[in-house]
Amino acid sequence: MENKVQSKGTATLELDGKRVELPVLGGSTGPNVVDIRKLYAETGAFTYDPGFTSTASCESQITYIDGDAGVLLYRGYPIDQLAEKSNFLEVCYLLLHGELPSAAEMAEFNYAITHHTMVHEQLSAFFRGFRRDAHPMAVMVGVVGALAAFYHDSTDIDDPVQRMIASHRLIAKIPTIAAMAYKYSIGQPFVYPQNSLDYASNFLRMCFAVPAEEYKVNPVLARALDRIFILHADHEQNASTSTVRIAGSSGANPFACISAGIACLWGPLHGGANEAALKQLHRIGSVDAIPDYIKRVKNREILLDGFGHRVYKNYDPRAKVMKQTCDEVLAELGHKDDPLLKIAMELEKIALNDEFFVQKKLYPNVDFYSGIVLRALGFPTSMFTVLFALARTVGWIAQWKEMTEDPTQKIGRPRQIYTGPTQRDFVPISGR
Ligand code: SDX
Repeated sequence: MENKVQSKGTATLELDGKRVELPVLGGSTGPNVVDIRKLYAETGAFTYDPGFTSTASCESQITYIDGDAGVLLYRGYPIDQLAEKSNFLEVCYLLLHGELPSAAEMAEFNYAITHHTMVHEQLSAFFRGFRRDAHPMAVMVGVVGALAAFYHDSTDIDDPVQRMIASHRLIAKIPTIAAMAYKYSIGQPFVYPQNSLDYASNFLRMCFAVPAEEYKVNPVLARALDRIFILHADHEQNASTSTVRIAGSSGANPFACISAGIACLWGPLHGGANEAALKQLHRIGSVDAIPDYIKRVKNREILLDGFGHRVYKNYDPRAKVMKQTCDEVLAELGHKDDPLLKIAMELEKIALNDEFFVQKKLYPNVDFYSGIVLRALGFPTSMFTVLFALARTVGWIAQWKEMTEDPTQKIGRPRQIYTGPTQRDFVPISGR
């Protein structure tokens, strides 16, 4: 990656009677940064920012979010334009390479991904070690981490050819592995990928086809799922992407880094929120029960799953497209009157007009409607975060690749503010 930060002058810090000039740097858009790399050397002090609410961990050219305006750009292209006009594999190319592909480049990329979709046959045996009732995310963390044991010919992170092969393998195999995790959980045989199908259609078939009969992909549902993958593909330096970057900063292989990202995404405050948001609708049970539920949120007894975001202090642009996709899928399947959708829409309406949520700038995020769509597509709740991980794999690998190719990157090693006991001598147990 070619570094492109620009100097924007300096900031002065006065500390213990000392004045320190710190460089201010700017990017192509978004907030400037105060470069504190020499702060400790010059002042002996650290900065303190638990949760990194005001900290830029890296320079990146992949995804830009304007949280106040509700803007999300992949390599400069607005998410709603990509969701409407592009397809997931083209977005994968864009995130990986930085530009939209020509027809020839797209054909070559499509061929490369399509011809990496199968997994090593020994991997099927690997699944057999899991309990059938294991959460599919637990299986994903284990199996994706184990890919380094099967594809050690693409783990040399210093070799650009191996980095690209590992990137292609992960993008191509993650749907196959996700479908295998689902099939394993329901005791059905694994279904091999079909190279004649597009990415989303292939995934639907690997999940829902059975050897006993022909499976016909519904193009409306496949298109909707492809769009859902686009919405989840990348999102700047979120928790799981930061996990992938910090794992990669030690030189760990890409399979191990993506497995770490999956583990972090699983949390209910992050990618696990789509599963939590659907369970929340079931718990609320009816539109009449919404006011009492909102009261419990305002009393801080519970969070409103699928609401709020560290960056978006406006409507998550992905939630808008997700809601449209939800309407499309439910109409196609004849579930327009889905009771859970009614509860979700009423919950959103009440929350968006309640001072508690308005004052805290809490809006629906990408997870608020996704559970309703994924359930309508036939996925069990336990697979919702798996689908998020499937789609986010390209973002994680693009960010990992960018970090690996950044000449300024160093191993991630934050410091701390220590408030534990100062030095003291050991006391033998007889003296305690
Ligand atoms: C994703 O970072 C990304 O980009 C993530 C993601 C991606 O694509 O990678 O966008 C995907 O993870 C979306 C978020 C999914 N999580 C949820 O829906 C879980 C519910 N949301 C919250 O847990 C929360 O909003 C977070 C974790 C998403 C953000 O938390 P922050 O930024 O740390 O904000 P905060 O917890 O400091 O909240 C600010 C205030 C607090 O109130 P006060 O203490 O200031 O009075 O808002 C309140 C919070 O209590 N609040 C909520 C709330 N979210 C925040 N109150 C009720 N319900 C909520 N959902």
